[in-house]
Amino acid sequence: MKAHIVTLPGDGIGPEVTAAAVAVLQAVAASHGHDFSFEEQLIGGCAIEASGTALPAATETACLAADAVLLGAVGGPRWSDPDAKVRPEQGLLGLRKALGVYANLRPLSVHPALVGLSPLKNDRLAGVDVLFVRELTGGAYFGAKTRDADSASDEYRYTVAEIERVVRLAFELARGRRRQLTSVDKANVLETSRLWRATVQRIAPDYPEVRVEHQLVDSMAMLLPTRPASYDVVVTENLFGDILTDEAAALAGSLGLMPSASLGAGRRGLYEPIHGSAPDLAGQDLANPVGAILSTALLLRHSLHLHAEAAAVEAAVEHVLRAGPYTPDLGGQAGTAAVRDAVLATLASQAAGNTSVTKLTDPCCG
Ligand code: IPM
Ligand code: MG
Repeated sequence: MKAHIVTLPGDGIGPEVTAAAVAVLQAVAASHGHDFSFEEQLIGGCAIEASGTALPAATETACLAADAVLLGAVGGPRWSDPDAKVRPEQGLLGLRKALGVYANLRPLSVHPALVGLSPLKNDRLAGVDVLFVRELTGGAYFGAKTRDADSASDEYRYTVAEIERVVRLAFELARGRRRQLTSVDKANVLETSRLWRATVQRIAPDYPEVRVEHQLVDSMAMLLPTRPASYDVVVTENLFGDILTDEAAALAGSLGLMPSASLGAGRRGLYEPIHGSAPDLAGQDLANPVGAILSTALLLRHSLHLHAEAAAVEAAVEHVLRAGPYTPDLGGQAGTAAVRDAVLATLASQAAGNTSVTKLTDPCCG
């Protein structure tokens, strides 16, 4: 198939991990006979340097015309002055809004070879397979902001329609997995959370096969590390989802492993590792490319509907995580390029029929 993919390497380690991810997509295209075209654009701090804005019009236009967008990371100390008028993060938030990608999927699993890196007792990690569905274009992130000399405010607003579309997607995903949905809110304090919970309760009868539970976010922050294996799909609003998924990534052993897919009404999606720009690692061939490479598997699956290709990338990563090489965040000494090359070599030997591929369950669709 033909597909046009816009890449937004961004700042810090973004360019290195994105280059590794693009190499994987090129290998998949070559081995499966697809025609993927790539177009690189600026976002974040590098875009501020070049044009004074974190989301140049050319970037937005290119992304709107693409089949999928692959992003590295944005931000860095150069642009972190809290009083700055333009910030790299505005590029990412503006792009999510412009693309209408209201649902952010963040799958969490713990690779058996990496349990020793997790801060949790290993017996709690068996069978962990959670799909977080984070609302991505509403809530405190996008409300009106005010600031004067001695006060500040962030408007926290959700409409029923905004809640309903992401909750329905979470129910659909749960239906294809273990049929269990945990909705996280702060309904004992926040009015937006009471609307969230009421909306989940109203929709639940449409999915009678899915068991629903409600958790308060503070309690969820405690339960997640206590019994991570007991969750299937977790749906929550923007800010809570941001915080809980960093906690989840720490449970997996490294922030460098987790991919994400941001989806809207159509097929086009925005794919990015959940880690940040890690300026201290940038340009030294130290960054773990696995989160970015696994994001390409989500891209292949959700935007291009290439399920076998997505599974091939996941199986290759699974093989490398079992056997190494490992980047320093996973206790090894290998560089970004060496891990990329190991994934490429595994893909090549799979294509040649030389590697027995472990059959993985589809992390998003059961
Ligand atoms: C994430 C990041 C972003 C967010 C930042 C960079 C704006 O933390 O994707 O989780 O808060 O959404
Ligand atoms: Mg975050």
